[in-house]
Amino acid sequence: MKTSVLFGVILMFLCIFINGSLSKLQRLEHPVTKSDGSLSFLVVGDWGRKGEFNQSLVAHQMGIVGEQLEIDFVVSVGDNFYDDGLIGENDPSFEASFSHIYTQSSLQKQWYSVLGNHDYRGNVSAQLSQVLTQKDWRWFCRRSFVLSSGSGMVEIFFVDTNPFVEKYFTDPGDHTYDWSNVLPRKKYISNLLHDLDLELKKSHATWKFVVGHHGIKTAGDHGVTQELVDQLVPIMEENKVDLYINGHDHCLQHIGSDGEIQFLTSGGGSKAWRGGIMPWDPKELKLYYDGQGDNFYDDGLNGENDPSFEASFSHIYTQHSLQKQWYSILGNHDYMGNVSAQLSQVLTQKDWRWFCRRSFILSSGMVEFFFVDTNPFVEQYFTDPGDHTYDWSNVLPRKKYISNLLHDLDLEIKKSRATWKFVVGHHGIKTAGQHGVTQELVDLLLPILEENKVDLYINGHDHCLQHIGSDG
Ligand SMILES: *[C@@H]1O[C@H](CO)[C@@H](O)[C@H](O)[C@H]1NC(C)=O
Ligand SMILES: *[C@@H]1O[C@H](CO)[C@@H](O)[C@H](O)[C@H]1NC(C)=O
Ligand SMILES: *[C@@H]1O[C@H](CO)[C@@H](O)[C@H](O)[C@H]1NC(C)=O
Repeated sequence: MKTSVLFGVILMFLCIFINGSLSKLQRLEHPVTKSDGSLSFLVVGDWGRKGEFNQSLVAHQMGIVGEQLEIDFVVSVGDNFYDDGLIGENDPSFEASFSHIYTQSSLQKQWYSVLGNHDYRGNVSAQLSQVLTQKDWRWFCRRSFVLSSGSGMVEIFFVDTNPFVEKYFTDPGDHTYDWSNVLPRKKYISNLLHDLDLELKKSHATWKFVVGHHGIKTAGDHGVTQELVDQLVPIMEENKVDLYINGHDHCLQHIGSDGEIQFLTSGGGSKAWRGGIMPWDPKELKLYYDGQGDNFYDDGLNGENDPSFEASFSHIYTQHSLQKQWYSILGNHDYMGNVSAQLSQVLTQKDWRWFCRRSFILSSGMVEFFFVDTNPFVEQYFTDPGDHTYDWSNVLPRKKYISNLLHDLDLEIKKSRATWKFVVGHHGIKTAGQHGVTQELVDLLLPILEENKVDLYINGHDHCLQHIGSDG
């Protein structure tokens, strides 16, 4: 008995040494319990916000649907804990965003989770730790693993897509990612792709699904993840994967053509703002639902009838003394929404105070205000927009827009006989604020202001109050 166990152990080691191509992906089996042999599960992504931003409402609906479908398990496609993953195994966010939220009886099932980019901004090993499973038995989270169910009916290949995204390494912005156990990156990715390919080839499942955090085909804000198109899709195609499921874009979505891999997005676990859709071939885009939340901030208005207009303006500035004309220009966040909606007369019909244009002049007695659209000056919005989509309609070609604007402004200021000449823009020229100096305005706008003896430049963008200047 002892010798045979020992022999077995040695044989196992031998196998590993001899067969270098052995996959290291953990395999799990989820038993089918329903008498008809069927299986059903929910997929949710982008959720952990301690119940806020409608997470609790979505959880409630999941409970109802989960009961109707008699679900067997739940799949989480990542971004489990906002904004920055978990700090450690004892981070109370685990309970606040998971255990205390998904409380309904139909959701007391195994959860199979992968990590999203926001999870990588925290302590990854904490989120993968067994200690969490001791706190809540439902929690199972790994970087990559394989789940089979129904003896060959379905196999789900969970893939850690985060290390694929080059930007997180070369241009992480203000974020710090926990890449421990991921570096060297190229090796991690090639091992993962190798193991995945091996597991897919071994699979005789009727249905092969791949799950990852990032989108491959998506009309959502974040757009296509080119690295996955280049590196993951060929392996999925070669191995006849049926379905790829992701989160990341906060929407529900189905893209696909007959006979090809179907792409599903389920990223509506919380904060599913309305209006985050980009063009996609309508023959392929079968479903897109971007939720109902909305805001002036962060992404402008999504149309003339966006209720944010009332919620953020009419219903807020209600006091008697503020029932005056408002003269507005656009900021960068307004350009992230539908600009023509924000400029529309329809808003003025809803609230007579609203007047918003890209650039215009207001004179009053002794003063002239020159309102200037500073957004198109900022090069970064064009060359490195990050996750944002700007509505540049009627702005392009950019150089022409800027040179026309500067020409017109110069002309108008030269004509002005006003005692006081003020220029108003969104972006700072001299500022000690976080966003810093807008170099493009220093180079292009400031000379015109100086030449024409403008007295004052007023801006926003930096969320502060500030006065910079020298006499004269
Ligand atoms: C929750 O969803 C409602 C629409 O159902 C939306 O009006 C609201 O803005 C959302 N709230 C938050 C905090 O996202
Ligand atoms: C991350 O969490 C693990 C527990 O899983 C802990 O051992 C480690 O110290 C944490 N790291 C940091 C930097 O806090
Ligand atoms: C933007 O708003 C205008 C109304 O001002 C509307 O005609 C247009 O369809 C909207 N565009 C999008 C992409 O929703």
